[in-house]
Amino acid sequence: KKVYAGIDLGGTKILAVLTDENGTKLRHAETSTNAAEGEEAVIGRMIALLREMLEPGEKLASIGVATAGTLNAAEGIVATAANLGWHQVPLGKKLENAFGVPVRLENDANAAAYGEWAAGAGKGTQDCVYVTVSTGIGAGIVSSGKLIRGRDSSAGELGHITLDWNGPRCPCGNVGCVELYASGTAIGRAGQRLAAERPEEAATLLAIAGGAAITSRHVAEAAAAGDGLSLGVLREAGRALGTALVSIIHMTNPEAIVLGGGASAIGEPLLGPMREAIADLGIASMAADVRIVSPLLGKEAGAIGAALLVAKG
Ligand code: BGC
Ligand code: NA
Ligand code: ZN
Repeated sequence: KKVYAGIDLGGTKILAVLTDENGTKLRHAETSTNAAEGEEAVIGRMIALLREMLEPGEKLASIGVATAGTLNAAEGIVATAANLGWHQVPLGKKLENAFGVPVRLENDANAAAYGEWAAGAGKGTQDCVYVTVSTGIGAGIVSSGKLIRGRDSSAGELGHITLDWNGPRCPCGNVGCVELYASGTAIGRAGQRLAAERPEEAATLLAIAGGAAITSRHVAEAAAAGDGLSLGVLREAGRALGTALVSIIHMTNPEAIVLGGGASAIGEPLLGPMREAIADLGIASMAADVRIVSPLLGKEAGAIGAALLVAKG
């Protein structure tokens, strides 16, 4: 029996699925990335994980890998993956050598977009954008029923679109990037900065963090408890995210936006201001009836999408 592998290579974990040719999941496994051990060790863990998943009688047909960052997809090279500390890593070749099957790399958000469009919350649409708000911010665009991959499967870098051209420099090289204002990292950083500047107002947030560095999770928890300072942080981030989504709506004219990553879990304190920004700033005829929906494939969207992208050629 032919099976198709999809692997989501993240900064903290490696998540793998095996699917049939329709993208229906047969099995799931995951392990920690331990990126600090270096690329050889990480690739070794990917190989071991996949070997363990295969059952007797199953024949692996292909491997799709979803990874954050930019790629040289034709060569199977991960060009820059900041979360892994990788530069020019020939991941595709190594997996091909280990399994003797075709391997294809895809940007994580692009793969998730394809997965959610083909088998999840975007199913049935022709024009659908997937946006993930996590450590970073990424997007994948399905236009007229086709994933927009760009030259190197790196299209859809929504996190590195400029919101403020006088803004600070981003590690990517650009300035005032969306990711600097609306990512989980940015939310944690804003909470941290306000807590240092105004410790009295930040008492609730500081108590929730319990002495640890403030993360987006702490901010979300404090906001859910009604903390004004944290609600303010999420209002700003939500406004920034909504402004970025307006650009994506104007560029791609989608029917639906699937909002993945941690955003939906944070809920109204982030999503309310995001929706307000879209209503306020978007060209009404394009923006008013865009459906904003939650993903259906959850954290497996990238892996399932990557498997499907290769399976379907
Ligand atoms: C990266 C993207 C990725 C996104 C989500 C961003 O920082 O540049 O390639 O899709 O994070 O992981
Ligand atoms: Na992308
Ligand atoms: Zn950037």
